[in-house]
Amino acid sequence: MQNIDSIKTPSVDYSVHPLIAARWSPRAYDTKPVESEKLQRIFEAARWTASANNLQPWYFMVGLKGDEVYQKIVDSLVEFNQMWAINAPVLVLAIAKTTNAKGEPNKSYAYDLGQSVAMLSLQAMEEGIYTHQMGGFDASAVTLALEIPEDYKILVAFTLGYPGDAGILHPNLQKLEMSPRSRRSVSESVFTGSFGHKADFL
Ligand SMILES: Cc1cc2nc3c(=O)[nH]c(=O)nc-3n(C[C@H](O)[C@H](O)[C@H](O)COP(=O)(O)O)c2cc1C
Repeated sequence: MQNIDSIKTPSVDYSVHPLIAARWSPRAYDTKPVESEKLQRIFEAARWTASANNLQPWYFMVGLKGDEVYQKIVDSLVEFNQMWAINAPVLVLAIAKTTNAKGEPNKSYAYDLGQSVAMLSLQAMEEGIYTHQMGGFDASAVTLALEIPEDYKILVAFTLGYPGDAGILHPNLQKLEMSPRSRRSVSESVFTGSFGHKADFL
């Protein structure tokens, strides 16, 4: 069988940092736990994200396989995600504080939290640890179960772990796991002159 990372690493139009090209979202994970030192560095990366007014709205609830937080996160996932996410040794909820110190709305919370997850995903890749983000979970249920305070909003759940053998997955998921990644071209997203006009530098 072809090496999965070689299937997942895209042929880019313009060369990028190898960690960016290599990142992909697995559903099969090895049972090996993620070392504490690696978790420390992964969350340190999130810490240094830029944010509006340096409010740093990111917070993370981390569940390690076997603990109560992990089980509560699993319970909140939609069935499709439960099918594979239970392979991961670490499950995390990414949570944003939606207000500033005066209690006023921080309109940048989602943007900033998203950036922090992107940052930690790349640090994770550097550590040989793969992330898979999930929007398919019951945010209200897990907010209650984990007693997340008011003004905090869970935006995404994600896995952390070493990639595993696709053979452990349900056959439908195996197909997804072995498919190449695809994206529209840069020229369809990056414009100069007018919206929709392919950037001149491309
Ligand atoms: C906000 C967000 C929500 C997602 N929700 C799910 C999900 O519920 N289940 C799932 O299997 N993948 C989910 N994904 C993963 C995407 O499907 C995946 O990132 C996308 O197909 C691109 O694949 P790649 O990350 O391997 O490049 C989500 C990703 C993001 C960023």
